[in-house]
Amino acid sequence: MAKLNNPFLTYGYKGPEYFCDRETETQAIITALHNERNITLVAPRRMGKTGLIHHVFNHTGQTQPNVRCFYIDIFPTKNLQQMVQAMARAILGKLDSPSQTAMRKVSQFFRRFRPTVTYDEITGVPTVSLDIAPNEERGTLEQIFQYMQQSGKRCYVAIDEFQQILQYDDTGIEALLRSYIQFLPNVYFIFAGSQHHVLEQMFSSVNRPFFQSTQMMHLGPLDESKYRKFANDFFAEQNREISVDLFHQLYEKMYGVTWYVHAVLNRIYQNSEEPITQKLLEQVISQLVDEQSPVFQNYYGAMTVNQAAVAKAIASEQMVEKPLSQDFIGRHKLPAPSSVQTSIEKLESNQVIIKESTGYRIYDNFFALWLRSLP
Ligand SMILES: Nc1ncnc2c1ncn2[C@@H]1O[C@H](COP(=O)(O)OP(=O)(O)OP(=O)(O)O)[C@@H](O)[C@H]1O
Ligand SMILES: [Mg+2]
Repeated sequence: MAKLNNPFLTYGYKGPEYFCDRETETQAIITALHNERNITLVAPRRMGKTGLIHHVFNHTGQTQPNVRCFYIDIFPTKNLQQMVQAMARAILGKLDSPSQTAMRKVSQFFRRFRPTVTYDEITGVPTVSLDIAPNEERGTLEQIFQYMQQSGKRCYVAIDEFQQILQYDDTGIEALLRSYIQFLPNVYFIFAGSQHHVLEQMFSSVNRPFFQSTQMMHLGPLDESKYRKFANDFFAEQNREISVDLFHQLYEKMYGVTWYVHAVLNRIYQNSEEPITQKLLEQVISQLVDEQSPVFQNYYGAMTVNQAAVAKAIASEQMVEKPLSQDFIGRHKLPAPSSVQTSIEKLESNQVIIKESTGYRIYDNFFALWLRSLP
């Protein structure tokens, strides 16, 4: 692949050379799948779940050519029908070599669902869409699983943003999926998502269909010194270096969350003529915050007066262990604890704030900085 102009990607996965570390996690996922175990991958937003899945699949493709890997993001799906459609598009036709015979086989297998096959103009890779009538979703899903099974190939299926299924009006999807998954001898799953309460409940509650059916994996921040080395390998090409101290500042400020650190590194790399100083770091961060200011203005405008006050107070202290304490409430002239409690719950469910082991903080690091710049 052609060398990228900027090695610090802010979206997508472009190969192992641009992917930092995660060796232990990669190996753990590969081992689990290899040993007939499913994985549930949980991490706060923008930590690197999707990238890790692609990294694992890339590695699997290189080392185990007989395994087929499928990635499905169900975030945009609103019901079971759309989810099944997304799975059909990702899986059907990609299990075999993209030959006419193979496509005829798929079409034959799914003839009930009037399949249409389209070929990518550049790569020639076929995509199969099914015409799924209302009430036929469950049957279609069953056929997709049967199709994978009868292929005889080992299949790894990643379903990203899995918590989305709880938003569907369709009932019993967990049980439905579970019933297929349990009896498929050659298909293994990675379920990934960011709402850890939701996912943990789904996979660790005795009364839920997925109980103990997968291995839980939590993804934390990248190791700071490995991350710095990764960055400096690229900066060295520009005869530059980010110091231990400055990298530490950046990492701490962003709570080690990969996307934020990467977004800043991307801009620093872009300013290739300037030495990497405190001034450049601050300039780049404030530029990133400014660019999003219209969005932040909207978030802020949509909050109630109390929620806005609580969010501002949390942002100003960065991390708040006890937001209901007299101390915190007094310092920021917030309303009574019960009102603060209500605001906290709302802010948390709207993902404006996140609860971590050391307390509450604003979820979006750039939004936190924006809130702190308010008068
Ligand atoms: N190990 C890594 N090395 C290099 N870049 C990474 C790594 N992990 C993540 N990134 C970068 O950080 C960004 C966020 O990662 P990713 O999209 O995988 O996170 P996510 O946890 O799936 O986020 P979301 O919850 O928003 O879906 C990506 O643009 C990616 O380029
Ligand atoms: Mg993702």
